[in-house]
Amino acid sequence: MHLLHTPEEFIAYRKSLSGTIGLVPTMGALHAGHLSLVNHARTDNTHVITTIFVNPTQFGQGEDFTAYPRTLDADLQQLSDAGVDAVFLPTPDNMYPQGYQTYITVEDITRGLEGAMRPTHFRGVTTIVAKLFNLAQPTIAYFGQKDAQQVCVIRRMVRDLHIPLNIAVIPTAREADGLAMSSRNVYLSAEQRAGAVCLSRGIMQASSLYDAGERNPSALLNAVLDEIQKESLASADYISLNHARTLAPIAVIPSADWGMGEMPTADEPLLLSLTVRFGKTRLLDNAILPHHLNTREGLTNVLGAG
Ligand code: PAF
Repeated sequence: MHLLHTPEEFIAYRKSLSGTIGLVPTMGALHAGHLSLVNHARTDNTHVITTIFVNPTQFGQGEDFTAYPRTLDADLQQLSDAGVDAVFLPTPDNMYPQGYQTYITVEDITRGLEGAMRPTHFRGVTTIVAKLFNLAQPTIAYFGQKDAQQVCVIRRMVRDLHIPLNIAVIPTAREADGLAMSSRNVYLSAEQRAGAVCLSRGIMQASSLYDAGERNPSALLNAVLDEIQKESLASADYISLNHARTLAPIAVIPSADWGMGEMPTADEPLLLSLTVRFGKTRLLDNAILPHHLNTREGLTNVLGAG
């Protein structure tokens, strides 16, 4: 497995490749969710490149940039075992050298949901992802469903800037009890970890209601809220229903100006997403409604495809 440290090394390596390239951008602290992206990339492509970079520009003031888990040796072992061809491991100075001043901003769809909570986050994500796309020139780039808005924003950027690649969206990997895998789950105490199952339970409740014919947005959101409120350590930041293709808002708890909209007249796919705090840790989860669309094919066709 090649270890590439600088953009110059990456460019030289990329020039040496022919065939298709699968790119899996990560911030390290790898878990089964990342490995699922890698496995899809391995099956689809001649070459698989993974990047590990805790990107400072996507963390806001007071967020966990310094504390973010870093497990490089274990990450490299897992990537090598999974058959990755090359890993790009730049430093912040490699990616943002002295004098750096170029950023990419995707507008409307970064304003609600995570963007409302983390106003500078997506500008950092789109900037680093565009840079990684330029270096890797992948055939397909792989992203996880768990960061659903991130997928929509990156797709918007790819279309708007004519970046010639495909995006694959891979379903969220879950622990046995349903908790969405996340590098940040390590922050949870044992008690918080036990309660964290409320996110996936809430989503499952709403999903079953939707599949049984419920179309009232408040009934769907309240089904999620009921599960969150059963956990004394949990506090919901937001629970939101959006059009899955465009992220146009339908309804949100608590109500906010980025949450006022209407249910689609036809049965268009919806994105149900939520963020819940356990102490200082924010956990995210989501599902597409109806339930049967939460597959690679369904997610890739629907999420951010508007
Ligand atoms: O999803 C992540 O881990 C990050 O946001 C990404 C896409 C690697 C950009 O830093």
